[in-house]
Amino acid sequence: MGKDDGGGLGYGMWAVFGEGECVRQRLPLNRIAYLASHSTMVLLCHAVLVLLWFFNSASATVVADSDYGGVPLWVNRLLGEPSVLSLQGRMDPAWFRANNPQACPQQCDCPIQWPTAIYCDHRGLASVPNSLPNKTQYLFLQGNNITSLSTSVLANITGLHWLILDRNNLQNNKLDSVALQNQTQLRYFFANHNHLKSVPSGLPAGLKQLRLAYNQISSISPGAFQNMHNLTLLLLQGNRLQTITEGDLKGLDSLNLLELSGNLFSSVPGHLPSSVQQLYLSNNSLSGLDSDSFEGLLNLKYLRLSHCGLLSGGLHPWVFNFSSLVELDLSYNKLTTIPTVPSTLQYLYLEANEIQEFNMTSFCREVGPLSYSRMKILRLDGNRILYHQLPSDWIFCLRVLESIYV
Ligand SMILES: *[C@@H]1O[C@H](CO)[C@@H](O)[C@H](O)[C@H]1NC(C)=O
Ligand SMILES: *[C@@H]1O[C@H](CO)[C@@H](O)[C@H](O)[C@H]1NC(C)=O
Ligand SMILES: *[C@@H]1O[C@H](CO)[C@@H](O)[C@H](O)[C@H]1NC(C)=O
Ligand SMILES: *[C@@H]1O[C@H](CO)[C@@H](O)[C@H](O)[C@H]1NC(C)=O
Ligand SMILES: *[C@@H]1O[C@H](CO)[C@@H](O)[C@H](O)[C@H]1NC(C)=O
Ligand SMILES: *[C@@H]1O[C@H](CO)[C@@H](O)[C@H](O)[C@H]1NC(C)=O
Ligand SMILES: *[C@@H]1O[C@H](CO)[C@@H](O)[C@H](O)[C@H]1NC(C)=O
Ligand SMILES: *[C@@H]1O[C@H](CO)[C@@H](O)[C@H](O)[C@H]1NC(C)=O
Repeated sequence: MGKDDGGGLGYGMWAVFGEGECVRQRLPLNRIAYLASHSTMVLLCHAVLVLLWFFNSASATVVADSDYGGVPLWVNRLLGEPSVLSLQGRMDPAWFRANNPQACPQQCDCPIQWPTAIYCDHRGLASVPNSLPNKTQYLFLQGNNITSLSTSVLANITGLHWLILDRNNLQNNKLDSVALQNQTQLRYFFANHNHLKSVPSGLPAGLKQLRLAYNQISSISPGAFQNMHNLTLLLLQGNRLQTITEGDLKGLDSLNLLELSGNLFSSVPGHLPSSVQQLYLSNNSLSGLDSDSFEGLLNLKYLRLSHCGLLSGGLHPWVFNFSSLVELDLSYNKLTTIPTVPSTLQYLYLEANEIQEFNMTSFCREVGPLSYSRMKILRLDGNRILYHQLPSDWIFCLRVLESIYV
């Protein structure tokens, strides 16, 4: 129940990325396409064009987006998520090899319907294959044992759009700092689950998504992102960051989603780009939240702070009093009272805390025809309050509430 089945605006919406996994993302409504077929609702997120062959119907539905190479793949939505990241279990490589007249490196599969894509994932490769066709735009290399990235191996390819290197053995000292310098078309660079200790230098300025989650990154060097004005998504969860200094994220003028969960922050890092709408800081041991913790984040809509060890006494009373906030996740902390939230907040997750009282002033400073809480979903399960302890007039304040879990 609740957020993980798609209760809130964003929770439960799965972007069709990541390696065999979906990355849970919250996205503004206008970027989400809802497709309904029979009784099933299928959600697709931005930046992926997926053609779904519905199981019992010959009709197909296309969600258009500009940055997906070519003819989409046959996707069985009952057997796997509609991801384009791998052909494993979907295609017979021998059939391809027999039917595709185009050159394809021995270690890879080249789908005939998508001539600019090359699949070399999960092959135990120790290095990027040589003689990749120069028209390659989508290069899938995840699940190998690749340690290095040299300049020469990509030198003949000029139009690379996606470079997917999740779950390899990449190490900073084996990355040629100019290897990607000429890849002006590169938009997605994924290197989750590698052995990087810092953000690689020399990443091309045109990137839109950079995924470096689950490495051992302990520092970002100042200026690492200085030219990346188009980057909208930066994943750094599961690393060893303790702090962010002034120049570290400078230049990220378009950043929308910043995922910093599971690092070593002891307070909300400063110097975050003011464009950020989705800030995820769960699983950091935060000592508290100050009045200025989210200062300057004028566009912040979705804030996740679950599993942070937060105590009610450590929260500045007005820390969440900013009207851009739509969704706030404070689940799995040690809060004993409900913090004061803006009346514009629509989704509040407070499950698994130690809350003992339900104080209406947390939601409504006053109640009137126009002053009421916009809350739609409120989770208070796993606390120390019971439904019958709610004050009788709570419904006047929470008058647009759709679900409450106590
Ligand atoms: C690049 O192209 C040249 C000339 O066609 C070829 O000799 C070389 O092997 C190619 N390099 C790679 C890494 O494919
Ligand atoms: C790409 O490779 C083909 C054949 O391997 C070659 O004829 C063509 O000139 C190359 N194009 C570029 C831009 O290097
Ligand atoms: C990966 O490569 C390293 C050397 O780069 C090697 O020591 C290791 O055995 C390789 N692992 C696998 C699973 O092939
Ligand atoms: C980038 O392209 C320029 C011009 O084509 C070339 O001179 C340079 O060697 C290339 N750099 C790398 C690292 O491939
Ligand atoms: C950033 O995006 C804009 C608009 O799409 C584009 O004109 C510009 O060339 C991009 N910048 C880089 C460095 O690719
Ligand atoms: C946080 O840690 C908990 C418990 O270890 C885990 O279940 C959860 O998936 C983690 N969440 C994130 C966002 O890292
Ligand atoms: C809370 O935010 C509202 C709306 O921005 C503002 O009017 C009010 O003064 C704030 N209250 C405090 C105590 O900061
Ligand atoms: C609710 O909270 C306000 C402000 O913190 C406090 O003044 C008031 O006494 C509380 N009401 C109850 C019923 O606890």
